[in-house]
Amino acid sequence: MDSIRQFENALAARVFPDGHGEAIAFWKGRVALYAILKALGIKPGDEVILPAYTCVVVPNAIIYCGAKPVYVDINPRTWTLDTGRIEAHITPHTRAIIAQNTFGLSADLDLVVDIAAKHHLHVVEDCAHGLGGTYKGRPNGSTGSASFVSFQWNKTITTGLGGMAFASSETTVRLLRDLQDQAASVPRRVQAQLRAQQVAHSLLSKPRMYWAIMQSYRSLSRLGLAVGSSSAIETESPSLPPDYFRQICSVQSKLGLRAIEDLSRQLTHRIAVARQYRQCLLSLGVEPCYEPDNASHSYLRFPLLVSDRRAFMSAAQRRGIEIGDWLNSPLHPVQSNLERWGYVPGSAPIAERTAARMVNLPTHSRTDGNVLRRNIAFLRENVGLIRERQDSGGS
Ligand SMILES: Cc1ncc(COP(=O)(O)O)c(C=O)c1O
Repeated sequence: MDSIRQFENALAARVFPDGHGEAIAFWKGRVALYAILKALGIKPGDEVILPAYTCVVVPNAIIYCGAKPVYVDINPRTWTLDTGRIEAHITPHTRAIIAQNTFGLSADLDLVVDIAAKHHLHVVEDCAHGLGGTYKGRPNGSTGSASFVSFQWNKTITTGLGGMAFASSETTVRLLRDLQDQAASVPRRVQAQLRAQQVAHSLLSKPRMYWAIMQSYRSLSRLGLAVGSSSAIETESPSLPPDYFRQICSVQSKLGLRAIEDLSRQLTHRIAVARQYRQCLLSLGVEPCYEPDNASHSYLRFPLLVSDRRAFMSAAQRRGIEIGDWLNSPLHPVQSNLERWGYVPGSAPIAERTAARMVNLPTHSRTDGNVLRRNIAFLRENVGLIRERQDSGGS
């Protein structure tokens, strides 16, 4: 069996421990989503519901199928789909609902599934952030008609770039396999670049070097010298980029096979780091992010609402503290002309308020005892910039 099939089988066993589904790998998570939408028959004129707090590549995949993204505001505590608002957006053209894990937390899936069943819609779980988390004890990704994960640099396990679709219906699996066969293979030059970047990443990515590395990676990607996760086309307008629909390559699957062996340890580490951040915030009189009873958070990152993001990020950069600023827009990272993706500014006020104030702290394996102490000291020094209520309700 080749490494791609082995990688698919290893992940299918995580998402479907009872063996009732399959995994089909693609070049990126967004490509897996595009293939899922195609396999589910999404076509021009259809509408797909999604949270108004996501990455722009998600509505892109919908638009590339000729369909229309329909944005629903988010729950102010979980930052996932507000299930109470979904039905108001359903029309005779609606075909599917995308339920996203945000920073590692699942949406309230049973409510989404009930609404979908009532209106004969598909549920697609966007688990780009949520591999390893659970909802009511079920692994993220195992409930919907289909789901996908991402293996991009900053994800739970990484293959540099990469994605995997999951489905349990035989028909959907067969259609996804056909689409996988039809996708273009990754040119050797790009495979070599990806391998070199992976080596550089593992050697250089020390938390103290975060800001310098981010800047050089972005500059190299802009110059076409690095395989970046998003091309300029994807963030400028929703038009299908030329090399979008690609297969996964063996460089990615070999890395993935190695990474997956360490998944449980990685998750335990992330959750332990998140506990420490929570304790720190509580000791500072800040109520940390909400953890609902029905889901286990996989804490891809630790979300934090601040009152002045620019000031908080500048302070972090000065001190060499790794702080992420995603999701910093309803359609991250796009800051203007969101109408191009069918988003009407002002239509999802909770998402907009959240996007304006959200930062995130690292939980990955390089967040060791020393890094954690520095990050916690930084939180203490900057408590004046941290919002006391870690939910996006109110003003
Ligand atoms: C919520 C969400 N969905 C989907 C994706 C797409 O994943 P990928 O970068 O592997 O295409 C991302 C990217 O980070 C994301 O944040």
